[in-house]
Amino acid sequence: MNTDSVISTFVEYFQERGHHRITGSTLLPPPGDSVLFTTSGMHSLVPYLEGRPHPLGSRLVNVQRCLRTTDLEEVGDPTHLTVFEMLGTWSLGDYEGPQSLRWGYELLTEGLGIAPRMMHATVFGGDDRTGLDTASLEVWEELGVPVELTVEDNWWSNGPTGPCGPDSEIFLWTGDAPPRSTPTHDDRWVEVWNHVTMRYRKLDDGSLVPLPQRNVDTGLGLERLVSLLQGKSSVFECDVFAPWRLLVPGLWQLDEPSLRIVCDHLRSAVVVIGDGVRPSNTGRGYVLRRLVRRLLTVVWRDDPTRGLGDLPGDLIQHTLDHFHQDVDPVDVRVVLLDEERRFRRLLERGQRILARPRFQGPLDEEDLHYLHDTHGLPRDLILSLRPEGRGPEALRV
Ligand code: ALA
Repeated sequence: MNTDSVISTFVEYFQERGHHRITGSTLLPPPGDSVLFTTSGMHSLVPYLEGRPHPLGSRLVNVQRCLRTTDLEEVGDPTHLTVFEMLGTWSLGDYEGPQSLRWGYELLTEGLGIAPRMMHATVFGGDDRTGLDTASLEVWEELGVPVELTVEDNWWSNGPTGPCGPDSEIFLWTGDAPPRSTPTHDDRWVEVWNHVTMRYRKLDDGSLVPLPQRNVDTGLGLERLVSLLQGKSSVFECDVFAPWRLLVPGLWQLDEPSLRIVCDHLRSAVVVIGDGVRPSNTGRGYVLRRLVRRLLTVVWRDDPTRGLGDLPGDLIQHTLDHFHQDVDPVDVRVVLLDEERRFRRLLERGQRILARPRFQGPLDEEDLHYLHDTHGLPRDLILSLRPEGRGPEALRV
């Protein structure tokens, strides 16, 4: 099953159960949302989760591209990507969590052919404000799926304030040996689908008030699910990465972790540019700038003459097509090349300045401030240029 057929199986399954498909929004959240990028499918639905009637009704389904910088340090492992797609469903004050879990189980097992014994669930165990989620627990017990109870890991919120609630997560087993242990004790259990019973709003003072309606908000990680269905051991081996894996190694020889970082960051940068972001020193533009700098640091490690000018246009086009972005790939390339030139100049200047006798010993805070304020060299760039520095890992977003 390829990515497109998983998407259509998912969407059709929920359409047959009364859900209307809504168009996924861009990576830029709606005005008034405090996050820099869309990190989950529910961003554009906040007013409707809070009670406003949605024009398409109370059951919705969509495919949403998301960007999470919180997972950036994990990129390169088998399951994390910077830009990924989330398949989402919503009940806006309509059906409740148990119905959502039953449909989720049926779709994964009967619709997508996953063996029930490969599944594990987690359920909110209760705290001093909200009790154990017995309704979800009963569904899983009835279906014969093992359950682990947790507290923090089974509470979902969009941010410090706003809609939130207890959730039940579905994990799939990825190990070679038969399934064992539980999701919090064995990371071969990979989380694929989160079902949130969104029935509270968290206020500035941390208190919870009930929302006017009880909603269900679910999110399924598309690339994770597809790679499991395709029997691959990492998200980088599923079909959406096939053109990248085919073309990038011929361009630059990289070890597997570096190849993953470069493919992830380049692809993410293309999507972010496709959504209209340009590199800058603040906000979204800064995230884009850091992605490009991190990937160039990896690409240049073995050979500084390498450059993004060699990147095949097909990879940019393939990515824009996949995300339905109606943007000229030439414009994307121009942005990438401009940013590359700017970074190369900054690095060269940094290397010249750091070669001065004054900076030969260990650098203290005063040196770092001086290099930043007088020469415009960011702290992480300086650290990445020092032999004792932390290399590209220093280029944090
Ligand atoms: N909003 C929930 C999540 O992102 C479904 O996990």
